[in-house]
Amino acid sequence: MPTRVFLDGEVVPAGKARVSVFDRGFLYGDSVYEVLRTFGGAPFALGEHLDRLDHSGAGLRLPLPPRVAIEAAVRVTLAAAGNAESYVRVMVTRGSGPIGLDPALGDRPVLIVIVRELELPDARLYRDGAEVALVSVWRNHPRALDPAIKSGNYLNNILALAEARGRGAYEALLRDAEGFITEGSSSSLFVVTAGTLQTPPLGAGILDGITRRHVIRLARSRGLVAEERPLRPADLTGADEAFICSSLRSVLPVTRVDGVPLGAGRPGPVTLALAAAYLDHARVAAG
Ligand SMILES: Cc1ncc(COP(=O)(O)O)c(C=O)c1O
Repeated sequence: MPTRVFLDGEVVPAGKARVSVFDRGFLYGDSVYEVLRTFGGAPFALGEHLDRLDHSGAGLRLPLPPRVAIEAAVRVTLAAAGNAESYVRVMVTRGSGPIGLDPALGDRPVLIVIVRELELPDARLYRDGAEVALVSVWRNHPRALDPAIKSGNYLNNILALAEARGRGAYEALLRDAEGFITEGSSSSLFVVTAGTLQTPPLGAGILDGITRRHVIRLARSRGLVAEERPLRPADLTGADEAFICSSLRSVLPVTRVDGVPLGAGRPGPVTLALAAAYLDHARVAAG
C-alpha cells in the first residue's frame, strides 16, 4: 500500500520526499511532530494532536504554519495514499540555513506529513500482553527538554527503548531522578489495583498523552475510579493489571515487568474492557 508525503506544498511518493542535509530537523532534531492514526479512514483526535503540536511549537519557539494549512495537508495526503487505515505523522522543522545552534538561522518552518498504511503491533501482544522493562535511562527533567514537548529529538527515549529491547522487553518505562515512574518510550502507563486505575500525573514530567486522556475519560464514564498520582515501581509490580497506551497501539496490556509476571500474568478484565471501549469510542469519534 502506498506511502505518500506532503512536502513543500505537494504530495509525493516516499522515494521523492527529500529534505536538505542542512534542515535543522536533521541536524539537531529541531522540529516538532505528532503521530496519529485513522479509524474508518478518518483521522482520530486530529484537533487534539494539532493543539499539542501548537504547544510543542510554542515550547521550542518554533512558529507553525496556519492550522488550516496543516489540516488541508493531512486531508490531501490521506486522500492521495488511499489506504484503508493510515498512520499519519505531522512534522514541522525550523527549516535550513547556515550550520549553527542559533534558531534564527532556520529559514522557514517546513511542514511534512507522512501517511503510510497502518501497521499495528503483533496481535500476540494484545492477546498475551507485553513485557516492559524499568530501564536505567531517566526521563528528561521538565526543566531540560520538557517531556511535554513532542520534539524531533527522541534520543533519550531511543536509548531507553534500546536498553529494554536488549533485555527482551517490548517497551521501556522511564523513571525520574527520584525513582517515580513517568511513562514509556512512546506510550503512557496505567496500572489497575483493586479495580482503580492509576496513572502518573502530568506533573511527573510526561507527554500529555492523548490516548491517556481518552482512557481516563472513558474509565470515569464507565464508573471506574481513575487517579493521576505518582507511581513507584512497587505500585506497578504489585498491581493486578497494567497497560500502556498510545495513538498507534490504543490500549495494550502489560503482563510482565522485567521478566516477572504481573498480576495473573495475562491481560486483566479491566484492561480488556477498556481496550474494547477505547476502540469503539475512537471508531465513533473519528467517523
Ligand atoms: C513519550 C510518549 N509518551 C506517551 C505517548 C502516547 O501519546 P499519545 O497517546 O498522544 O499517542 C507517546 C506517543 O508517541 C510518547 O512518545
